[in-house]
Amino acid sequence: MAKQKSVFVCTQCGTQHSKWMGQCQGCKEWNTLVEEIAVKSKPDPRAWSGDSAAAKPIRIEDVEHTSVQRFPVPDYEFARVLGGGIVPGSVTLLGGEPGIGKSTLLLQLALSFTGTVAYISGEESPSQIKLRGERIGKAVSELYLLSETKTEAIFNHLKNVKPHLVIVDSIQTLHVPHVESTPGSVAQIRESAASFIRYAKESGTPVLLIGHINKEGSIAGPKILEHMVDVVLQFEGDPNLLYRILRAHKNRFGSTHEIGLYTMEQGGLYGVENPSDLLVTKQHDGLSGNAVAVMVEGVRPMLIEMQALVSTAVYGTPQRSTTGFDTRRLNMLLAVLEKRCGFRLGQKDVFLNVTGGLKVDDPGLDLAVVAAILSSNADEPISGKVCFAAEVGLTGEVRPITRVEQRIKEAEKLGFDRIYISGHHQIEKSHYDIAIVGLKRIEELVQAQF
Ligand code: TYD
Ligand code: MG
Repeated sequence: MAKQKSVFVCTQCGTQHSKWMGQCQGCKEWNTLVEEIAVKSKPDPRAWSGDSAAAKPIRIEDVEHTSVQRFPVPDYEFARVLGGGIVPGSVTLLGGEPGIGKSTLLLQLALSFTGTVAYISGEESPSQIKLRGERIGKAVSELYLLSETKTEAIFNHLKNVKPHLVIVDSIQTLHVPHVESTPGSVAQIRESAASFIRYAKESGTPVLLIGHINKEGSIAGPKILEHMVDVVLQFEGDPNLLYRILRAHKNRFGSTHEIGLYTMEQGGLYGVENPSDLLVTKQHDGLSGNAVAVMVEGVRPMLIEMQALVSTAVYGTPQRSTTGFDTRRLNMLLAVLEKRCGFRLGQKDVFLNVTGGLKVDDPGLDLAVVAAILSSNADEPISGKVCFAAEVGLTGEVRPITRVEQRIKEAEKLGFDRIYISGHHQIEKSHYDIAIVGLKRIEELVQAQF
């Protein structure tokens, strides 16, 4: 047997080096090289050798223009994030922390999909998957389970099963024989993904790949994996909390602004149809530091609660801590309050929480954050029937935001009495039952509410 040779592969771009270096010669990133056993050099190893007759050059006007036919997905949240159903021949990568519910999400999808599904798991045996399926208790479709990690063997099975959808749990467990490094290594992941991408493009079968994420929160494996696939989805949330959020980081067939919201329960994942109902606790009347914001994720407005706690700093440097909100943005808002309204928050600890374990970055939340801080600082509760939707600028101006009418309607629908927005919006107030208060400067909020 030939002597095994190591190569050093960049985890960012996949460039190979014969010796270790601090900087990758390909993408110039630092500290991205990992050692791997060299690839046995075989000319053009193709794990999937299907019919490649489809790949002929075609003039653009000869391309048949049927707007992409998508496979319908019964999971409404999933479909929305994808921008409709699953596109034939597409490859989707679903990333997420261990235990967040990736396998559950895709198994649910497999169980309710109309058509033949091949669920390939390198992590669980068919009986374990069946057990999980029974727990979820969805109607069983034509679902084939396969516990296999050798890509070549998988493709042989797929030729017989001829599925309409292929699910792979997970890309890190797959193994191609012509690469000698262990499963989960950069070279293995790249090769396995490439052969599934070839399979998808040539057979027209959509493939969903599960990918683990590393400590930094990106999908473990070469960064180029994200460039190779059509859609990159991220499943996130705190495993200890109820909510799970599905986001698209990349989508060749739709927008990346939509999110899918689920709750993880005994019987599996449930799509949340009316997020505002769940995210706003209705019993906070009488407690200071709570303010309800109307935000928009994608095209969907939802109300969420911001909770602030302002207390006298015990140590010299005041603490600033946030969950689900950008700390720098909080610091900016505190500086504005200090400068424009004279609040001496520089000597206070400030903690800020977004309820429900959501991570948010809509500028329209600013006003609610300010209101929550002021409420906690003054120990004056804000009525549970009041909500906020506006951005706050550096000079203390209350700025207009997108989709304000939609936000007002959502607040009205949920029975709020009053909404504070920017005074720069041209809104016909008589069209709404809810009282609309336009503010131009942050000082006006202090006068109106505190
Ligand atoms: P799983 O899909 O295995 O996560 P991943 O594939 O991302 O690692 O989900 C694991 C968690 O989900 C597990 O801790 C238990 C929980 N769970 C439920 O709460 N209800 C259910 O019906 C199922 C199937 C799992
Ligand atoms: Mg899993």
